[in-house]
Amino acid sequence: MHSAYEIPEFTTSAAKPSEIDADLVIVPIFEDDSTDRDVWDAACGGDILASYERGEFSAKPCEQLSARPSGWRSARLLLVGLGTRDAFSSERARRAGATAALTARLQRRGRIGVVVRAGWSDAALESLVEGVVLGNYDNGHHKSKHEGRFFIAGVEIAADRDVAAAVTRAGRLGEAANAARVMVNEPGNHLNPHALVTRAQALLDVPGVTTEILDERRLEKLGMGLLLGVGQGSDSPPRLLVARYEPADAPKSPVLALVGKGITFDTGGISIKPSEGLERMKDDMAGGATVVAALRTIALEQLPLRVMALVPAAENMLSGRAIRPGDVLRGGSGLTVEVNNTDAEGRLVLGDALWYATELGATHIIDIATLTGAVIVALGKTTTGLFGTDGWRDVVQAAAERGGEKVWPMPISDDYKELLKSEIADMLNSPGRAGGAVTAAMFLKEFVGATPWAHLDIAGTAWADESRAWTVKGATGVMTRTLVEVARSVGKNWP
Ligand code: BES
Ligand code: MN
Ligand code: ZN
Repeated sequence: MHSAYEIPEFTTSAAKPSEIDADLVIVPIFEDDSTDRDVWDAACGGDILASYERGEFSAKPCEQLSARPSGWRSARLLLVGLGTRDAFSSERARRAGATAALTARLQRRGRIGVVVRAGWSDAALESLVEGVVLGNYDNGHHKSKHEGRFFIAGVEIAADRDVAAAVTRAGRLGEAANAARVMVNEPGNHLNPHALVTRAQALLDVPGVTTEILDERRLEKLGMGLLLGVGQGSDSPPRLLVARYEPADAPKSPVLALVGKGITFDTGGISIKPSEGLERMKDDMAGGATVVAALRTIALEQLPLRVMALVPAAENMLSGRAIRPGDVLRGGSGLTVEVNNTDAEGRLVLGDALWYATELGATHIIDIATLTGAVIVALGKTTTGLFGTDGWRDVVQAAAERGGEKVWPMPISDDYKELLKSEIADMLNSPGRAGGAVTAAMFLKEFVGATPWAHLDIAGTAWADESRAWTVKGATGVMTRTLVEVARSVGKNWP
């Protein structure tokens, strides 16, 4: 089987655009930069300004214009639009990089150059390069015919300063996000809980990281009846992945725990989902894949803090053994839950994993999950819902802003708590439609004690329904960057 992506070989140089030896030279350009426009126009014998005048191109975000420079080593130049300077963001740079990479692949140009203009920050450059790696991805690895597939093999980044470290960082981040996307796109028959944790383990085979997989027997000993309950209807038993990055010189505290939902397929269980769109529910382990990808990057960057990743993995199935609506389960924390809806399974498996993270000494927790349809109603498909304790939630929001990923803070307060009341147990897992994303978050909060905790609901953002100029349909790898940015910010404003 072929791979879904390739990591191009990156080189950096101080080459002039005309000297770059490549099949295509990518030039990001602002909409409101007419000097730049003239420079490239001169190289292409007036062709570029003519295109502007005809209205073919105006450097709006992700717009592209291909031209033929004379006297260059590369036969082609590709202008890719960034929009206006004041609206510039990391996300714009990332999308521009990805758009250009997808075009290069369509034109079967395997060696590309990227021109970094003076004044670009390392952060902007990283996003652009990360975008190129994200663009070197497709969904075709299960196709038996491979003639149409083409990947970029080499990228030369030409800049007026030394950008090697930034390029390495960005390449790693793009690679990790792609690895997460492959797992998320993997169908349920190829990725059961055992396969998920095994593949995660392989990705985490990097210096400084140790992994452990808890099987049913261990989970039973620890009393994790919520995770076991969700998994009991499936022929593939549940697992809990615990991975620890412990750099030798890191202080004892803080200990950051990243907890990701790992439902390898969500049928809804006995509270079965409608069949329309059900095939998408193979992506219900996107949170789990993201924490694994982020931990890998954090370890490769050798960031100076302890970090754990926990992935409660289970398949939410129907069978004679499955949990029924109305069943009462008891989690590792001792809290009992009345499962009035077996489709609200994510909060159950996360409940046990969050509790276990506190048992293992986490001082700061972030969980990430395709948790609720309600967050899609609230925020749509572009913005991730962010919940959590004051202070720590702000740290995550700032990290997302730096990384150019959209999150929006949502309220949590004890006013919502009475909705979680059960007649016969400590809590109800599904309190109804009103405030569905908030009550899900409130449920999770019951398992973290006093530990600073943040929750990212990526039900709307983990999956692209359509291919766009900058991405293909399917898993997006969203929030990989944000989680790494949180770890990079260790100590700064952390509560
Ligand atoms: N995995 C789903 C949430 C989801 C829905 C993700 C749509 C992506 C797209 C989750 O397990 C779920 O089924 N949530 C229920 C909760 C409800 C029963 C309280 C939902 O949102 O409908
Ligand atoms: Mn569900
Ligand atoms: Zn689910």
